[in-house]
Formats: sequence, C-alpha cells, structure tokens
Amino acid sequence: MNNTIIGTGINRKDGQAKVTGTATYAAEHQIPNLIHGYLVTASIANGKIKSINTQAAEKAPGVITVFTHKNAPKIFKPTNNFVNSKIYEARLPLADDTIHYAGQIIGLVVADTFEQARDAAHLVQVEYTTQKPILDPKQATFKNAPSMFGEEMKFEKGDFADSMAGAAVKITATYKTATELHAPMEPHAIIAHWQNPDSLTVYEATQWVAGSQNTYSELFGLTPERVRIVTPFLGGGFGSKAFPWPHGILCAAAARKLQRPLKVVLSRRQMTANSGHRSATEQTVRLAANTDGSLQGIEHTAKSYTSPVDVFTEPCTNITAVMYAAPNLRLQQELAVMNIGTPTFMRAPGENPGLYALESAMDELAWELGIDPIELRLKNETKENTRRGLPFSAKHFAECLRVGAEQFGWQERPKKPRSLTRDGKLIGWGMASCTFPGLRGAASVKIRLLADGTAHVLTSGNDMGTGAYTIVASTAAAGLGLPVEKVRVELGDSLFPNGSMAGGSQMTATLIPAVMVACEEVLKTAQAKTAEEAFASLRQSQRAAFEATGSSAPSQEGSKWAFQSWGAHFCEISLDEEIGRLQVTRWVSVMNIGKVMNAKTAASQIRGAVIMGIGQALMEECHFDPNIGYPVVYDLATYHYPTHADIPRIQVSFVGEPDLNFNPAGVRGVGEIGITGVAPAIANAIYHATGKRIRELPITPDKLI
Ligand code: MOS
Repeated sequence: MNNTIIGTGINRKDGQAKVTGTATYAAEHQIPNLIHGYLVTASIANGKIKSINTQAAEKAPGVITVFTHKNAPKIFKPTNNFVNSKIYEARLPLADDTIHYAGQIIGLVVADTFEQARDAAHLVQVEYTTQKPILDPKQATFKNAPSMFGEEMKFEKGDFADSMAGAAVKITATYKTATELHAPMEPHAIIAHWQNPDSLTVYEATQWVAGSQNTYSELFGLTPERVRIVTPFLGGGFGSKAFPWPHGILCAAAARKLQRPLKVVLSRRQMTANSGHRSATEQTVRLAANTDGSLQGIEHTAKSYTSPVDVFTEPCTNITAVMYAAPNLRLQQELAVMNIGTPTFMRAPGENPGLYALESAMDELAWELGIDPIELRLKNETKENTRRGLPFSAKHFAECLRVGAEQFGWQERPKKPRSLTRDGKLIGWGMASCTFPGLRGAASVKIRLLADGTAHVLTSGNDMGTGAYTIVASTAAAGLGLPVEKVRVELGDSLFPNGSMAGGSQMTATLIPAVMVACEEVLKTAQAKTAEEAFASLRQSQRAAFEATGSSAPSQEGSKWAFQSWGAHFCEISLDEEIGRLQVTRWVSVMNIGKVMNAKTAASQIRGAVIMGIGQALMEECHFDPNIGYPVVYDLATYHYPTHADIPRIQVSFVGEPDLNFNPAGVRGVGEIGITGVAPAIANAIYHATGKRIRELPITPDKLI
C-alpha cells in the first residue's frame, strides 16, 4: 500500500479555535481575584546563598509577599518513580540555600499584577558564597550511566574488539551534538487555584494530565480526587511539559499558603535555564565490516551530562541494536554531573542524536567501501530487535528506502563528492534512516450520545498540537456511523477518564483503541446498532443521553513482537562555499508508521519534525557563559532556528500496512520519528557537496568555509 498524501485527510478539529484565538492556553484562563508570581533566580551556578534581603521587594507597590528558602511554603516529597508520580527535578524548590545551577529558582515574588511582581523581583538582594562551577565537559567526571526504565545502558554481544581487529574495513569517528532547547511556542505557565486548603485546580501546560494530578496530590498530601488538572490546549511541549517543573510546584505551594489563585509564567530567558533542554552529547561509533559491506561489529559509546539535582541520560545508544544487524555489538553510555539545569526528554530523546552519529558513520562506511548508502543499509537490515531477540512487527524499512529513492531520483546521484554544481554553488545529496519505537499505554474514553443527535467524547489525554482532537473525532465518527461534524471532543481535563500521556509518540496508539471500544460500549448501552438508532430511542424515551466508558491497554503482544516505526529522509543542499551559506533545497521523507489516521495531520507532524531537525543540523545551540553558567541565548531571536525562508517544500509519504499485532487500530504514532535522521541526512549531503565530513552539530557557516 503506497499512500501518497497530497490533499487528503480531514482538517484539524481545533484549527478554527486556534487561529481565532478562542483556544485557551494555561496562562489565559480567566480566574477572578488572580494574583501574579515572578521568579527570582540565581545568578551564580555553584555555591550557597549567604544572605537574601527581601525588604525592598516587600515594600514595592502591589507586593503581597516574597517567598525564599527561609519561608518556603510546605511541599511533600513525591514518590517520583514515574508510576505514582514524576517531577523533573528531584530537589524541591526553595529546599535549602544551595545553588546547583545558574537560573535556579531562589525566590518567588507575589504581587497584584505581573509587572509589579517582575519589578519587585529585581529588588531582591542576594549575596552568595561561590564555588567554581563545572560547565565544561572536559572538567566533568564521566561515569557509567544508570539504567533507564529498567534497562541497562551497557550492552555487549559477541566480541566487538575481536571483530574490529579482524575487519577488512573499519570506521572510527566521534560526533558531537549541541545543547538544544525545546523552545515551544507557548511558554511554560501555570495558574494554581485552591478552592479551599484541601482542594486544588491547576491550569498548566502539561503533556500528562493524569500524571500531574497524581503528582500534585502527592506534593500537597491530598488524595488525587482533590486535584483537578485542566489542559485543553498546549502550544507545543516536545517533552518539556510532561511533568511539573519547580516553578509549577512552587506556584501551587505559594497559592495554598496565600489562599489566592496565583499565576506564574516563565520568561523566555527563564525557560532557557528552568524548563529542560537536550544535553549536548559526544558519541564515538566504530564499525567493522567485510568488503561487501556486511557489518561484523558495531560499537557505540555516548557521553551526556545531567544536573546535580536529578539524573537524565540522553539514551543515544538505544537505536543501535534496533537499526542494523551485527554479530558483535558493544553499547555504552556515560554521564557526568555539571552545574547546568536538568536536561530531559526532547523530541526523540536518544534516537535523535544517536542516529546522527550512527547514520553519519554508515555514510562514512559507504564512501569507504564505494557502496551506495541505500544498499549498505539494506544489506545490514535486521528483522529483529537484536537486544530483545524479538521480531519486528509490520516492518517496511526497505520500502521506505525504495520509495524515497524513487521519489527523490537517487539513482541520478553522481558517485563523487563535489561533482554537482548549480548557479556557482555546490550541490549535495544525502540520505539517512529514521526509527522510533512504537509505544502504547492504557487509556479510557467516555462517549455520550445526546438527544440532539451529537456524540460527545471525553478523555484526559490531550493534544499538544499533534492532531489528537481530530483523530479522536474521526475514529468516533467512524465507530458510530456519524459525520465528523456531529462529534464533539473534549480533552485534557482530569475530571475525564484517564487518557494517558502525550509523550513517546504514544497518544494515538493509546487513545484510538480506547475510542473504538467506547463506541461499541455506548451502542451496547443504547441497545442500538447505530448512533441514529440510539438517538431515536433517546427521543422516544425522553432520556438525555446514553453514556459508556471504553478502555484499552497493551496485553501480551510485547512479549512476541518488537514494535518500531521506520523511515528515510532524502535531501538536497546547495552551498556557497565562499561564505559558508547553506540552503536546504529539496526534501523527501517516507515513513512506515502502521496505519495513518489522518494523512494531513500525520504529514504535518513529519514536516514539523523535519523543520525542527533542520534547525538542529544547522542552527540550534545553547551556549553557557563559561563564568556564570547562564545560557547566553535568552529568547527566540538569540536561539537560532529555521524560519520559512530556510525550509524547502517537504514531500511526505507513508508506506506499509496497519500494524495489527500492536493494537486493533494498527497505529504506531508519528510525533517523534520525523526528526530522527534529519541531521545526518544533511551532514551526508554536505559531504557529497564538499568532500568534507562535519562531525559536530550545528553545522554553522564557519564550519563550511
Ligand atoms: Mo516526547 S520527548 O516523549 O514529549
């Protein structure tokens, strides 16, 4: 099945609300009697607060109070195990006088207006005792990274050293990626509203409504029923809005103390230090191959850093055992603690930087051998996840390569670097593979059939801009036999059944099967075959509604199959070598994601991810001031990322059949896979254009001259 997706797919259900400004984001909820908090943050990266003087701030116009570690509001330690609760930084805000990174929250000024709080925050006087911060990986101590989600970071199969010693062709290369910021369009924001000292409503940009409900309830010693989380819309998250950050916890704690609804919005500058980032990485890939290109050994080692207040390893080597077969495999990750805010999940955590290294190395090997890079990949394709020993379900990686090559015209590619030119510029063609696991959680969905002839679908699972509203509506419409206009979807409220997390690209695979079950259940409740029949019986009986909840969860399929999505990117770049000016001029992406729920929004996910990947490849980099440790990028102008002029037309196709081993809808999800493989495709195209291998992101003009 080759589903070329131009002009098909239904429009976004929430599109009109978004473009007309009626979609309500966290900071926009109108709460009477609202007061405003502004964070005070540390201007050193390592040390202690010697003194903190809040007198001037307290006397400033409109100021209600100032919180510091000396009068910190009460917060309980949560379980923080990802099951019961999860916070991004294990250290609670204002816990003590210690400073672990620049920008760490050291106070909260609360005032009648935002401007008053912000002005007064600058009147807080702080004296520090400082210690030299560790800001440079060269000065940091790297140790074996701890296991993640119960899986060891270290893995060995066969004898890699032996395979390398005996290999006919060898590649050894070290690649570096930069610290990147999530930079979502909607800033991090929260309104905490206590109805009474034991009942909290939180309006916060969160990717995980049900998780936040549990977490805030633990933080304040409440039962989850006493906490309501409301997040109908998110303006992007990319992994930075999955759990509460210290500012959210502090806002809710301060609001409880004051018994007034309180809003805290981070400035763009505060977001660079306080709401996560993707750790810079340094990775070494070694490949041992026969002269025909078959891999005998792969070694992938990676270094990343974490903060002193939590542990997060950028899991770069997760993709290696999934991507290619080799009898000898060695994976290792090291982690160092630096005086920088806590890094976290960012769109395809691990897969993204990991594939930059692996797919660059594969390209280096292809040139070394004089083999076409597609042929090299096909030769080493694996039918199973070699680490788990399970076969992949519904894998169509080879078809992604074939279809992509055909659409791009890859066979026309000149076999030598520097052999394509146009208008005095060097032209290069590159390709790379994509992959991302198929993940799925448990979800419940409520459907109500109403006497007015509409269906109402409710779940706490939400839409961070991906298109969840739209596919939930179309699935319900199909399941009930209604036009999609007759289906109303409400998402992102913890009063609704638990709809899992918008993370790990799992929302579609999680929610859609539950919507399908809920459709069956509500028709059963109505004793009707179709929604129309149910509506007729409502009118006759004068009842208001039929209502049912459907649930769906993974079962034993994960012990038989490995679920993974696949893809390939093909691109063309043009380069004015004299000034290092690079333009991405052509892009073809082919993805294998199981069933495509909505060709339009799925292609938009891939396009957005490719754009984000182009930013990573060419522009995005968060530098830290080597003395004070604060990020020297501080807004959406100083953190460079692509604008329209930087982006070519991105042609997206999907291949393969529904993955029915995975779930009854056959969907694997499509949030993150699109960014994987983008940076290496560009780096590989640059090699083709110039003969120059650039092993460090971002590939800025200075590296191209
Ligand atoms: Mo994604 S990094 O799991 O939000």
